[in-house]
Amino acid sequence: MPALLAPSILAADFSNLKWAIDMINESEADWFHVDVMDGVFVPNISFGFPVMKALQKHATKMLDVHLMIIDPDKYIDEFKKAGAGSLSVHYEVCRNLHRTIQAIKHAGMKASVAINPHTPVSALTDIINDVDIVLVMSVNPGFGGQKFIQHTFDKVLRLKQLIIDSSSKAKIEIDGGVDLDNALPLIRAGADILVAGNTVFSSPNPLEAIKFLKDPL
Ligand code: DX5
Ligand code: ZN
Repeated sequence: MPALLAPSILAADFSNLKWAIDMINESEADWFHVDVMDGVFVPNISFGFPVMKALQKHATKMLDVHLMIIDPDKYIDEFKKAGAGSLSVHYEVCRNLHRTIQAIKHAGMKASVAINPHTPVSALTDIINDVDIVLVMSVNPGFGGQKFIQHTFDKVLRLKQLIIDSSSKAKIEIDGGVDLDNALPLIRAGADILVAGNTVFSSPNPLEAIKFLKDPL
């Protein structure tokens, strides 16, 4: 079964955002990946609600929102109102992760926990049955266009095993440095959803890049 594909809008040309939105709408991609950064949790600031609202107005596919911010609890309802269909919060910033996950579900979104490269899969043992998605960072969060961390493959295998052992329904999403070479090995290792920024938007033919990532077999 092919993985879902979520192109990351962070890599789009923001002076021509409508073009990027229309391109993803017309493509074989499944979701929009939306990276929100606060300059505190990560050393970069991306965008917030005004851009989310522009996406909400024109996107015909689900907005998969990845919060790289220190206090996600404050904004759960506002992201729902701004059109988020799924909301990822980082394990590293949530003091009461179980509560945050329940609040996201209660607001009517898919609940996702994101883990940084240094966070072990074992940290998820007691939350794996509560989340819809685990977002595995395959680069350090903060920037698009970084090099894929190979160790991610081990993590995906361990995460898949944890999901099976726990009879969890969680899906595995891989974010960072996904390209035309590692897409297929990632799917074979157990990835259900791939995020791709640079590989889509730096391609001379983004629609073809999406087509390939959707079906790299
Ligand atoms: C990094 C973001 C990623 C990024 C992916 O902090 O979470 O979603 O936009 O971009 P690429 O595919 O270029 O690594
Ligand atoms: Zn992301």
